[in-house]
Amino acid sequence: MQITSDTIAEYADQVIDDVIKWRRYLHQNPELSFHEVNTAQFVFDTLQSFGELELSRPTRTSVMARLIGPNPGKTLALRADMDALPITEETGLPFASQNPGVMHACGHDGHTAILLGTAKILAGMKEQINGEVRFLFQHGEEQFPGGAQEMVKAGCMDGVDMVIGLHLDSQRETGQIALLSGPYYAAPDSFEITVIGKGGHAAYPHETVDSVAVAAQVITNLQQIVSRTTNPLDSLVLSVSTIAGGQAHNVIPGKVTMTGTVRSFQPAFRQSVPERMEAVIRGVTAAHGASYEFRYTRGYDPVINDEKLTNLVRATLVSVFGEEALPPVERQMGGEDFSAYLQKAPGTFFDIGAGNVAKGIVAPHHHPRFTIDEDALLIGVKAFVNIAYNLLNRKD
Ligand code: NI
Repeated sequence: MQITSDTIAEYADQVIDDVIKWRRYLHQNPELSFHEVNTAQFVFDTLQSFGELELSRPTRTSVMARLIGPNPGKTLALRADMDALPITEETGLPFASQNPGVMHACGHDGHTAILLGTAKILAGMKEQINGEVRFLFQHGEEQFPGGAQEMVKAGCMDGVDMVIGLHLDSQRETGQIALLSGPYYAAPDSFEITVIGKGGHAAYPHETVDSVAVAAQVITNLQQIVSRTTNPLDSLVLSVSTIAGGQAHNVIPGKVTMTGTVRSFQPAFRQSVPERMEAVIRGVTAAHGASYEFRYTRGYDPVINDEKLTNLVRATLVSVFGEEALPPVERQMGGEDFSAYLQKAPGTFFDIGAGNVAKGIVAPHHHPRFTIDEDALLIGVKAFVNIAYNLLNRKD
């Protein structure tokens, strides 16, 4: 039987009500990173109801499903993340979170539902599949060190030839798809700096080493790294995002603690950042008689999309959704632990528009009023199924 994108569109129409139902169930029952116990069980049970799939639990809160076709071929992994965030939902939706203080505020409920729908369709197409489709339902994307590297350690990528992932994006209109070859998401590192001075009475600063004043200098001077010592054509973000010190208006505190994030793409360049930061921190604190502690934590690797695979995926998406659905896009300074899979096999990661200004769906990700346009779910399912079928059934 000849499978075309029209056939797949019919299959997608048949599962979309289920996909929306699953998404709403997951939305109503969010669980934090590494605690996706009920979520993983729900995914496992739903996958089991499709038949045809070999199921396993790579970690306590993740699920893997293998669909092995009758003909030899390549192995393609498709990934969805399943975790929610520590946010109190304010959407007022009828299916809003019933787990106080926890919310699917990044769309991972949608990712999970899309991949379930994809698995249901592909399970029904098993006889037409060459090779294997491996479905990775991953835990803990939002929290470093991330669930992806645990999935890799558990062997989920063994024998995988290519890996594809997607993210819903409320800041892009439904119908638009963002796909880019090469660097796409940045490496999100983090740091903590403590400026240690000498506390005392705020009326007698000369008898203290003012950690607040020194911390202010440290912050200002750290910006020189981005603005003066980095090639403007390289991408670097250095944000000091928290600062804490002191309790009273008339007391100079003995120390100030700051935390922040560093975002970059190039490995050699990324490697140099902590050293350059410490040189600034050391120099500024020494100049004012203070000392410091500095801790730098490397986060996820950058997401670098494979050129050949990205072009194949683009050809499929253009044939299904039209050229106008894939306008030129730029890379982003956000991070994604999908990069862990890319250390094992070439792959590509793309964004699916799930915003809708006319429907008032505009809140950014990780916001208490974040939601997605559910019309994007159908696009996600069609994208995944068409990509899987085309990649595995290509002639060369
Ligand atoms: Ni996310």
